[in-house]
Amino acid sequence: MQVPVTLKVSAFALFVMGVYTYYANSIPQLQSKPPEELSLEGGNVTPDQLVKAGEEIFKGKGTCEICHRIGQKGTRAPDLAGVGARAAKSKPGMSAKAYLIESLLSPAAHLVQGYPAIMPKVDKPPIALNRSEVWALTAFLESLGGTVTVKLDDIPKTAGAAPAGGAAPAAELKLPGDPKAGQAVFMGKGACIACHKAGPIGASPVGPDLTQIGKIQTPDYIMAKILDPASMGTVAGYPPGLMPRTFGQTLTAKEYLDVVSFLLTQKGEGPAAKK
Ligand code: HEC
Ligand code: HEC
Repeated sequence: MQVPVTLKVSAFALFVMGVYTYYANSIPQLQSKPPEELSLEGGNVTPDQLVKAGEEIFKGKGTCEICHRIGQKGTRAPDLAGVGARAAKSKPGMSAKAYLIESLLSPAAHLVQGYPAIMPKVDKPPIALNRSEVWALTAFLESLGGTVTVKLDDIPKTAGAAPAGGAAPAAELKLPGDPKAGQAVFMGKGACIACHKAGPIGASPVGPDLTQIGKIQTPDYIMAKILDPASMGTVAGYPPGLMPRTFGQTLTAKEYLDVVSFLLTQKGEGPAAKK
């Protein structure tokens, strides 16, 4: 029997990917230690110290660089070079610092043209910065072309605080899904691997690398994106309408929850984190 060449090639590719993935999974995962909390309330800090602290949050705990670069285009979010100056004109009647604070705490309130509402609220999980950290970050953003004027009092008291009622915010939302089973769906029935990479699994550049998606996205976003990709807009730099819209029909509820749980475990070091 004559087997078409393309079929043989893809069967081989799948075999290689399978072996590679098996191997990669046998390497123990590095345990990342929880980032330190910054508290500046009541302390005396100079604008320079504040900007410095904000820059560290931008590059570290804030995970901003997974989406944004300063002075570099082509990532999934706007280049933030000069945002401290541009912010003064972004929203009529709003000062630069008020706009910047709003961008961090309610990113969907004003969307930069051409970008979807994929930015998470930075004081909520998974980023979950506290009020001091939002303050420092705002100072750092102001320093990108503007003047640092932000005071702690400009940051709403509710920023980063536990919701009223005293319940601690769920830092880690536990879904009833099984990440291991979800990995199998990712590689098998869902065929996500055809377009996406997740840590050591897969290599396709067709869709965004999902290696760090658990660090930057909420469960809500991931769940909606899988069921109805268009409802979440199109990640900048990728073609719209390519991600299949049929997972709601083709995956069982269990497979769906499993694959979401798998993505929430993706908190690796991605290309953006490498220097
Ligand atoms: C998941 C990707 C993602 C992450 C993570 C992210 N952002 Fe964004 N951000 C975006 C996108 C997309 C936009 C444009 C759409 C909008 O305005 O919300 C944006 C907009 C902004 C703006 C407004 C820019 C302008 O030109 O008006 C600022 C400021 C900003 N982000 C700062 C940050 C900071 C600081 C962090 C880290 C704490 C961060 N973002 C994390 C995706 C992200
Ligand atoms: C035919 C290619 C294709 C397949 C198959 C596919 N996707 Fe996607 N996916 C994309 C593309 C392209 C984007 C970016 C454009 C967009 O936002 O629609 C994307 C975006 C995403 C995002 C948002 C990423 C971000 O950075 O915000 C998630 C999450 C995602 N896909 C999950 C999945 C999962 C889970 C599966 C399998 C069940 C899957 N995709 C299957 C092409 C695909």
